[in-house]
Amino acid sequence: MKIAAIKILAAFSVFVAFTLSAQAAQKPTNDDCLACHGDSTFSKEVNGKPVSLYVSSEKFNSSIHGSTFACVDCHSDIKSSMHEATPAKVKCSQCHADEQTVYDRSLHAKAIAAGNTSAAACIDCHGSPHELLPASDPKSKVNHTNIPATCGACHGLKFVMQTGGLTTQPFVAYQESVHGRAVAVGIMRSAVCPAFMVKPSLMETGRRRCARTVTAFMESSRETTRIRRCRA
Ligand code: HEC
Ligand code: HEC
Ligand code: HEC
Ligand code: HEC
Ligand code: HEC
Repeated sequence: MKIAAIKILAAFSVFVAFTLSAQAAQKPTNDDCLACHGDSTFSKEVNGKPVSLYVSSEKFNSSIHGSTFACVDCHSDIKSSMHEATPAKVKCSQCHADEQTVYDRSLHAKAIAAGNTSAAACIDCHGSPHELLPASDPKSKVNHTNIPATCGACHGLKFVMQTGGLTTQPFVAYQESVHGRAVAVGIMRSAVCPAFMVKPSLMETGRRRCARTVTAFMESSRETTRIRRCRA
């Protein structure tokens, strides 16, 4: 009798240990993370300033990354829902090595390496990795119609451009051009590359070409590049 009870107890504790370890091995779900990070007021202080730790589940679920990945696919160092240490920074280059290589050759990357933190990093042009939309979506920061506003958020501000010894003149000239006005009223086929980035002859070609030209321009050095006014 006593022995049978011990046997049952032993079997039961093996069972408990088994289920517990199965649970520990289970990946934390998005809901586990959002229990804390889904609160829109959730933030921490860095150098006395609040930094948001909020992730909108709605925007995440409809984003290009959210439709493919769970939180812990990218934040893969987190093994249990309540992480003790600060999770490691996820790098875009883990998955976008090609874009990282192109970016590293750009004037923005070189400016950041030289100490100008006002120059654009991935997130400045693409927005949060938790909210990113396909470029074809009219709400994407790099959708054809939004590129002028995305670049203009810095290139239209005098104090930002002064950090690189530049002016807002090229951006202003672009906005005043026929293309700038056409984009403003949402004419999709209008050339979108700001006038200071491309040869006017290339501005009539498609969006892809345009994006490639942006890259080519940004890889070229300041010395070999002439600021060109749009002559459309
Ligand atoms: C119990 C609340 C809680 C849960 C659950 C939680 N976190 Fe956090 N998280 C925090 C707190 C508090 C911080 C800020 C403290 C710190 O940086 O260590 C933080 C920081 C982070 C950071 C770093 C932010 C930075 O500044 O670099 C990431 C990334 C993160 N959490 C992701 C996750 C993911 C993914 C999950 C789900 C697997 C998760 N967290 C679950 C409370 C939580
Ligand atoms: C496609 C990969 C990816 C997925 C999926 C992802 N993250 Fe992130 N997350 C990142 C990157 C990259 C950063 C760093 C952003 C930066 O450099 O500012 C980040 C930063 C964070 C931060 C720091 C604050 C911030 O917004 O910069 C928190 C908190 C966080 N993630 C939580 C989550 C939670 C919760 C989920 C799931 C709902 C999630 N992440 C899903 C890539 C991802
Ligand atoms: C875990 C891998 C992973 C990480 C980390 C990651 N991405 Fe992605 N990203 C993807 C995948 C997969 C797609 C979808 C690819 C496709 O459909 O072409 C994608 C799509 C994109 C797109 C394309 C949207 C479009 O127009 O089609 C952009 C832009 C993007 N990611 C930027 C970033 C940035 C910026 C970061 C860092 C802040 C980042 N990604 C981090 C995997 C990742
Ligand atoms: C100066 C602004 C800017 C910066 C900085 C930037 N991008 Fe982009 N990115 C763009 C534009 C513009 C496009 C083209 C969108 C289109 O297809 O029309 C693009 C396209 C992409 C695409 C989609 C490629 C495709 O074939 O559709 C990915 C992925 C991407 N970028 C990732 C990154 C990553 C990762 C970084 C940082 C290493 C980065 N970007 C930095 C502006 C930028
Ligand atoms: C986060 C702010 C920011 C955003 C967004 C931004 N830029 Fe810049 N950009 C800068 C700064 C700052 C410099 C000057 C860097 C330096 O040389 O120190 C610069 C420099 C440049 C240069 C080099 C100009 C020269 O003569 O040296 C080009 C070209 C450029 N940006 C194009 C773009 C395009 C195209 C976009 C949008 C797709 C864009 N930038 C978005 C901040 C930004």
